[in-house]
Amino acid sequence: MDTSRSTGPIVLLGPPGAGKGTQAKRIAEQYGIPQISTGDLLREHVRTGTSLGLQAKDIMARGELVPDGLLYDMVAGRLREADCGRGFILDGFPRTAAQAGWLDAFLEHQLFDNSKRGKCLPIVMQIDVGYNEVLRRLTGRRTCPTCGRIYNAYLQPPRVEGVCDLDGSKLVIRNDDREDVIRERLRAYEEQTRPVAEYFERKGRLIHVDGSLPVDQVSERVLGDLERRVIC
Ligand code: AP5
Repeated sequence: MDTSRSTGPIVLLGPPGAGKGTQAKRIAEQYGIPQISTGDLLREHVRTGTSLGLQAKDIMARGELVPDGLLYDMVAGRLREADCGRGFILDGFPRTAAQAGWLDAFLEHQLFDNSKRGKCLPIVMQIDVGYNEVLRRLTGRRTCPTCGRIYNAYLQPPRVEGVCDLDGSKLVIRNDDREDVIRERLRAYEEQTRPVAEYFERKGRLIHVDGSLPVDQVSERVLGDLERRVIC
């Protein structure tokens, strides 16, 4: 783990199942910065029954996007925490053009003004994977509820079926990883999130990574690209 340098903000884009969470965990390990997954934060709100969780629950179960306005306080609060000081990885945010504009303004006005955090512009990576492959990945995904490690029943199975290699917990299937919900999530991605990649592309800030390769090869490319761009 290299904690001697700041990475600044890193944004991971890509369709559901592209491997954002998998790669975010490896970047977090490499640079000692936190992974901020809006999906995980929202699922925690749903689990604990907060007002946000109650509003988001049915929307997430249908595979639709939670309205922009419900997310900003949650994301802003998390980004202001001390562990984001050297950088952070946004996994699953921004996901609409409005969220992308909000993030740019937030980073400029909130972080850039008063701390070292703002010295680096966000590095934005798009993990590209085709429709049939993400369908296969999501139907096979299994997650450890204790340590968060992500497995795949077909592609990266645990040593013992249904059990986490690291802590022995029983693996769980996310309730939005059903085929009908996956199709809705992919539709939401095409309609609302693809324009976010185009927004960063227009600004000349988008790095494409071929996410169809095996996990280790994707990591090699992601970490290699980051290494060339981490400047502070
Ligand atoms: P969220 O939790 O963000 O889900 P997602 O974007 O749909 O992404 P996933 O977590 O499904 O996929 P991933 O790309 O992280 O893939 P992973 O690494 O797990 O969002 C859930 C819901 O929350 C949304 O539908 C929405 O309702 C709401 N929400 C969240 N953020 C929001 C926002 N900003 N605005 C509005 N609403 C929001 O990998 C998947 C599988 O593939 C795993 O099994 C893994 O082992 C396997 N795999 C990964 N990489 C590879 C590889 N290279 N080769 C083979 N297998 C691989």
